[in-house]
Amino acid sequence: MAPVFDKKNVLVIYVLGGPGAGKGTQCSKLVDEYGFCHLSAGDLLRAEQQREGSSYGELIRTYIREGNIVPMEVTIKLLENAMDAALKENRSGAGWSAGKGRFLIDGFPRKMDQAVKFDEEVCTASLVLFYQTTEEVMLKRLMKRGESSGRDDDNVESIKKRFVTYKETTMPVINYYAEHGKVAEIDSTVSVEEVYENTQKVVAKILAAQEASS
Ligand code: C5P
Ligand code: MG
Repeated sequence: MAPVFDKKNVLVIYVLGGPGAGKGTQCSKLVDEYGFCHLSAGDLLRAEQQREGSSYGELIRTYIREGNIVPMEVTIKLLENAMDAALKENRSGAGWSAGKGRFLIDGFPRKMDQAVKFDEEVCTASLVLFYQTTEEVMLKRLMKRGESSGRDDDNVESIKKRFVTYKETTMPVINYYAEHGKVAEIDSTVSVEEVYENTQKVVAKILAAQEASS
């Protein structure tokens, strides 16, 4: 069965990197400049956790606190629904017209099963932006963020668990896409502006390629 969305019409860029690497920050800059629809898997899960009547609230809360990966069916469905809704909004701007759009999928896929299923059944990603820095830097950023984020998992205990999950479960996903030549690795130790300059270069290229093929 073909994916729900054809990559000729719908551009998907996965945004990966450890917790606190700067994924969300870079995504919001890309949204401003290129009109992407930004879907953060973590944000969608937190919203579902809060939603009244959700049958997944407790499950999501536990997985997030423990830094574990929520069963993929839940996350993939949330992403697919959000993509569908964005495509039905009839957005205007570069990359958007009937049935066409461009998406940054942030913090996904975090596990091999999600990667395979989403690419095969929802939409095949064109690129992986991979933000890379040290655990020391990420820990510092997350602790700072924790002062105001209100997130259950921005505390040392959860952060340590998230680092383990990242290394054991998400790195294999990044390596898999690297083998397929889809990964652009960007050092995110430097300033937000410098990271963004390097991000722009990669994204501008992929958008040009998309334009040329559509
Ligand atoms: O990306 P973010 O840091 O917001 O993700 C927070 C948590 O949400 C993760 O630590 C994990 O528990 C859950 N998550 C998930 N699957 C994803 C993305 C996030 O289970 N693809
Ligand atoms: Mg984030």
